[in-house]
Amino acid sequence: MKTDAASGLAQKVQTKLSGHGQPMTIVVEPSVEAVAAHVHDALVEHLQRTPRTVLGLPTGGTPIPVYARLVESYRAGRCSFKHATTFNLDEYIGLGAEHPASYAAYMRENLFDHVDCSVGQYHILDGLAEDVEAECAAYENAMAASGGLELVLLGIGQNAHIGFNEPGSDFHARTRAVDLAPSTVAANARYFREGQQPPTKALSMGIGTILEARRIIVMATGSSKAKAVRRMMTEAPSRDVPASALQFATDVTIVLDPAAAAEL
Ligand code: F6R
Repeated sequence: MKTDAASGLAQKVQTKLSGHGQPMTIVVEPSVEAVAAHVHDALVEHLQRTPRTVLGLPTGGTPIPVYARLVESYRAGRCSFKHATTFNLDEYIGLGAEHPASYAAYMRENLFDHVDCSVGQYHILDGLAEDVEAECAAYENAMAASGGLELVLLGIGQNAHIGFNEPGSDFHARTRAVDLAPSTVAANARYFREGQQPPTKALSMGIGTILEARRIIVMATGSSKAKAVRRMMTEAPSRDVPASALQFATDVTIVLDPAAAAEL
C-alpha cells in the first residue's frame, strides 16, 4: 500500500478493498500510537452516539494503548460506559478470574477497574466452568438478550486467528471450547511467569458469533502481523485463514500501522 512519503511521515491512507463479500475499509495510520488514537476515537464516538451499546472486546497487547486512552477519556468526562454492556471474546480454560494471567484480570487491570463499567455490565467467559457447553450457551443467550453485539473490536493473531478461532475453525461456529494452536500458546507464553505452563485450551466466541456484529473494527500493528493482514484481506475466504471470514461481514474497518500494512 502506498503512503505519502512527501510529508516525511507515512500518511494516513484510507481505501476500500472489495473482498469476496462486502468492501472493507482500510486505514493506515503513521504509528502504533496513531492506530490506538484512531480506534479510541471511533469507540468514544460510538459510546457518545449509542450509550446503551453492546461491545465485543479483545485482550492481548494490541488494544492496551486503546484501553489506556479510554481510561483517560473517561476521567476527562469524554466517555462513559455506564449504560454499555460488554462481552469479551475469549478466556483461557483452567484460569479463574483471579488468576493474574486470566483475561478477566487483564480487563479489570486495563479498563474495568478504571471506568464506570461494573460487575454485571461486563461479561467474560468463566475459564473454570464445570459445564463448558452450558457456560458457552449462557454466553450466547446473554448476548442475544442484550440485543446482540453492536460493535466488536478485534486483534488478529499471526496465524490470522480472531478471538481464539484458530485455522480450521468453522465460519458458522458459535461460542465454544477450542484448542489453541501451538504458535498461539508460544506467542502468549510471555504473559506467564517462568515455570508456569500457558493454557492450551480456551473458550472463544465463534466466527459466526463475531460476524453477527453490526460493526467490526480490527486493529493490527507491527511486522509480525503483516502476513496475516494480507491473507485476511486478499485471499479467498477459507478456514485456513479465520480472519478471511471478515470479508463476509457487513461493516469492517481495519486499522493498521505501516508495518502491519507492509504486504498490501
Ligand atoms: C484476544 C484475542 C486474540 C488477540 C490476538 C492478537 O482476546 O481475541 O485474537 O487479539 O491473539 O494478540 P496481540 O494483540 O497480543 O498480538
